[in-house]
Amino acid sequence: MPEPQTPELQTVGTDIPKTPKHTKEAASQQETTAKVQPSVPKSQTEVKIPSVDQQVQMWEPSAISRKRGPILPGLVSTEPASTPYSLEKAEITAPLKVDPQKIVVMAKFDGNQRVLKVGVSSGFFVKTNVLGGQWIKRLNLKGITAPNMAVVPITEAGLDRVLKGLDAEDSTLIRESLAKVDSTQGQSVGAMVSDFAPGTDVEQLVDAPRYADLDEYKNPPKTPEAATDAYVKMLEKTARKSPLGKTLPAARKPPFGGSDGWGDELSDQPPAQGPGFQAWLKDQDTFVNELDTASNISRAMAKYKLQVHLAKLGAPLAQKAIASKMDIIVNQSPKFKKWLGTSTGRDAVIRQICLDVIIGQEDRLINFQGGNFKFDLNQNTLVDTDNGSKSVDPLTAHDLTQPLPKYEAWLDNIRGSGSLPEALVQKLAQGELGPDLATVKLANVRAILKQVAKEADKVARLNPKEDGATAMIDRAAKIQALL
Ligand SMILES: Nc1ncnc2c1ncn2[C@@H]1O[C@H](COP(=O)(O)OP(=O)(O)OP(=O)(O)O)[C@@H](O)[C@H]1O
Ligand SMILES: [Mg+2]
Repeated sequence: MPEPQTPELQTVGTDIPKTPKHTKEAASQQETTAKVQPSVPKSQTEVKIPSVDQQVQMWEPSAISRKRGPILPGLVSTEPASTPYSLEKAEITAPLKVDPQKIVVMAKFDGNQRVLKVGVSSGFFVKTNVLGGQWIKRLNLKGITAPNMAVVPITEAGLDRVLKGLDAEDSTLIRESLAKVDSTQGQSVGAMVSDFAPGTDVEQLVDAPRYADLDEYKNPPKTPEAATDAYVKMLEKTARKSPLGKTLPAARKPPFGGSDGWGDELSDQPPAQGPGFQAWLKDQDTFVNELDTASNISRAMAKYKLQVHLAKLGAPLAQKAIASKMDIIVNQSPKFKKWLGTSTGRDAVIRQICLDVIIGQEDRLINFQGGNFKFDLNQNTLVDTDNGSKSVDPLTAHDLTQPLPKYEAWLDNIRGSGSLPEALVQKLAQGELGPDLATVKLANVRAILKQVAKEADKVARLNPKEDGATAMIDRAAKIQALL
């Protein structure tokens, strides 16, 4: 089994809700340039996933721990149950996305690469995500899958180990937000491990044509001199005048500089050729690679352009990032779009939105969020990595005699004044996949929704002891009643 490559420091995504006006701004939730997909061994060891009620995992701030003064003040665990993973044994290998509220990293457990996610004050979503993923796998619908997912217990020592595997600045920020977790406000810390999902985030596949349109893509610098010039030009400070005509200090053009200092560490002063130049280049390569472009498409594009220039100069991280982007633009994105144009592809997307309606994941196709699923072009399959970042209701077991007020209200909200299938047709047409989907027919959506609800009911009845089975049966019935 080949050792998986470690991806360089890269941020990956955020679930930033898109407003219609700023769709493309938010679309850049995917890191667009230095996205080198870590390669992962083909045959991952199957992991026996304990049911979620076996996996006691949430941490809550408590008076006891405050008195005790633990490493992470304010947190104490319920008894951890058996799970194949332990945070205490995690070896963080590369960050995927780290912010004060969320840690998504590649990590090795007993030598196997996995994806570890820690929700700092939103442990609730972690559990929802795992349950959703487990049901998606069980349902085994054509063209849709999810990686194996499991909730992991959080211990002080485990969290400490994870924090030590991050860079110092991130770990300080996360420690600060951990100290603020407040169970009286319904907050908790939760962690999950999933298998590394193959494929490319759909967000990147739909964004590819915008990059293909750029001058830097169509007409990259032909010589190292041209590349250096272009790099410097992007970063050079220019004189400015205030609206009243007063001269202001020279500043960098947007999106560089500004109040948050994006790209401040970059230098537009390359030394002459020689060792000095090589040292400068190495620094620039690292700094640019680490630029965070979450939720800002103009920054993502700027980062890509800088990397085109650095790649021409031989910078290894930039070369890797550009090669990966090229593969997406030239190979993956066209194949994905072609698949969307076939009835197999279109029906899989319809099936996906119907599945999202059942598991309650709003942020994928109901409100388009392409960072929450991937397309695996070897299997022609959608891979659902995130089934709970914005979820209506946990699938956790509840009493069948109780109504599902939240879920029903959510369905009503999606439906608006029309029928549920009509609403889904509209969501698909308005989403970013809309232009690439061959016409979506109402009758087709209705038929697929019926099949998915039927299948959900059947599979839930076959697995009555699994957490969420009751909710699945209930929801399937609610949906069937609307058809
Ligand atoms: N199991 C996985 N395999 C491969 N990549 C993954 C996996 N899980 C997450 N990722 C990558 O990490 C990114 C963020 O993960 P995810 O969407 O699950 O986290 P999140 O908690 O919703 O954070 P965000 O708010 O940034 O979306 C995804 O866009 C995806 O590229
Ligand atoms: Mg997400």
